[in-house]
Amino acid sequence: MADLKNEYCMHTATCGELRKTDVGREVVLTGWAWHNRDHGGLIFCDLRDREGYTQVVVDPDCVSAEDFAKAEHLGREYVLKVTGTVRERAVDAVNPNMATGEIEVLASALEVLNTSVTPHFSIEDGIETDETTRMKWRYLDLRRPEMYRALHLRHTVAQAMRGALNERGFLEVETPILANSTPEGARDYIVPSRPNPGKFYALPQSPQQFKQMLMCAGIERYYQIARCFRDEDLRADRQPEFTQVDIEMSFVQGEDVMNLMEDVMAETLRAVGVEHAFPLERMPYAEAMERFGNDRPDTRFGMELKDLTDIVKDTGFKVFSSVANSGGVVKAINAKGAGDWSRGEVEKLADIAAENGAKGMAWVAFTTDGQEKSPIKKFFSDEEWAALKQAMDVEPGDLLLFAADTYEVACAVLSALRLRMADLLNVPREGHALLWVVNFPMFKYDEDEKKYAAEHHPFTHVLDEDLDKIESDPLACGSYSYDLVMDGFEVGGGTIRIHSAEEQRRVLRVCGLSDEEIDEKFGHLIRALELGAPPHGGIALGLDRLVMLLAGKDSIRDVIAFPKTSSASDPMTGAPSAVSGRQLKEVSLRTL
Ligand code: AMO
Ligand code: AMP
Repeated sequence: MADLKNEYCMHTATCGELRKTDVGREVVLTGWAWHNRDHGGLIFCDLRDREGYTQVVVDPDCVSAEDFAKAEHLGREYVLKVTGTVRERAVDAVNPNMATGEIEVLASALEVLNTSVTPHFSIEDGIETDETTRMKWRYLDLRRPEMYRALHLRHTVAQAMRGALNERGFLEVETPILANSTPEGARDYIVPSRPNPGKFYALPQSPQQFKQMLMCAGIERYYQIARCFRDEDLRADRQPEFTQVDIEMSFVQGEDVMNLMEDVMAETLRAVGVEHAFPLERMPYAEAMERFGNDRPDTRFGMELKDLTDIVKDTGFKVFSSVANSGGVVKAINAKGAGDWSRGEVEKLADIAAENGAKGMAWVAFTTDGQEKSPIKKFFSDEEWAALKQAMDVEPGDLLLFAADTYEVACAVLSALRLRMADLLNVPREGHALLWVVNFPMFKYDEDEKKYAAEHHPFTHVLDEDLDKIESDPLACGSYSYDLVMDGFEVGGGTIRIHSAEEQRRVLRVCGLSDEEIDEKFGHLIRALELGAPPHGGIALGLDRLVMLLAGKDSIRDVIAFPKTSSASDPMTGAPSAVSGRQLKEVSLRTL
């Protein structure tokens, strides 16, 4: 923890620093009255600040009657200034679980700097208070040691990254918050412009276009700890405003950006005492999908997806053979340790499969006492059954779960089941696993919008060997792209950019933009590319997600000082809130 220096303030020691070696020292402590106890004449108070807590003893023989009366009426979270002497605790009073547990401070004077109404929950770690209450009284929540630790960790990570980038010639540059729309796949937050009635800024979903402009400006190495805004469905790892460590470099290839990022990560992890081997694995996107069913694999455990399409293509189980013969795939995972689950327990998993688009979830259980239980075994020949068991590496105690569908649906279903089974079976996932997933497809087809969209963003350079396929076969085009994956989360993503105006136009056209729309929305970028843009590329790290994983939390809300609820609101300030008719009129708006 950072040392809170005992200068520029009222105290001469923090509540976390006093040890046996300080015995005899006269100190002034300030902090919050945490646990107050009256032990027959002596009053004990654990005084807490962000650095820890110290036991204060108020003895009527050592303080004025007036100060003793104050001590008798202390409430929780009263703010105190205590003057006193450090003394050793009696042997039977030593608290080995407390950093300052060998000493206490015998008060000679006590000042109540402020009182407090009763706090709405207990200021301690591991409370079960619901999150909305914690967010409404966030300043109380942040007094809890685990919340301070998370904020401190975040600070250390951010500073380590800044330091690593500064050392390597990166310039920290701020880019506008009042900006134009930049597509990163979410809805924009828009802000009306008073002097320009009917016109709006968009809050940046990322500084993507500005950082590219900085490369066009010859800055060569840029970074920014940038706030980004995305109006999208919120989840545990998504907030409407979040922070990226945003990086861009000129005259580089993908390998250069990945190598730089690995050096920055190595320094950062060292700063927070986490070990990880470097260089990191680079796993092609296609391999990640094939083996794990998604592009952000948690590689800390196996249970990989196996393709059984060939084995089952002629089987009597028509669900499988018809899918296998109509361009689909049949895949399965082996959940070791679930072979003795009851039929009811297994069938409950079908809900997870269905949520991910499955039409059903066939299964086979191999019990530890050697039985094979399954609704589908009867449809298979002995040879098919033996081949299937061999392909799945079956042992007693295994449970096979199948998905027969399009490649995409089968991958989605089994990757969700794999993660759920790992949770249900308590599969060990110690430490952290970082890797790169590289070479994403350039485009995907958006079924809802009925058009192509960029898999990352439309400023991504298409693989040189695929440039001639941009219009004729978009889905066959690869891209220079790389995601940094940690413990099953995408903690960063980047690409080498398009630096040719012509390629930029071609990609935007495939994404459904007319030439007029391209000029209107991206004219500034096209013009910059025409004016000597250097080859460039970069990456953005999701700072919140990285800190969440390092802090061992389940939600990025726990590593953000003032996060929003799942309905994008802030229970503490009441944002968002209504504005007055006059304010609306000023910006030429009316509500419905
Ligand atoms: P991308 O959209 O992949 O790339 O974002 C980069 C990283 O930001 C984090 N992230 C989020 N974190 C919290 N809440 C959110 N709503 C959220 N959305 C994204 C993720 C993600 O990996 N401009 C490109 C980067 C580039 O190409 O350089 C970009 O924004 O950890
Ligand atoms: P049915 O013959 O439709 O009753 O299905 C027999 C078994 O196959 C049941 O366990 C279904 O859940 C399962 N099943 C059906 N469709 C699929 C599918 N597309 N993928 C995997 N399993 C399926």
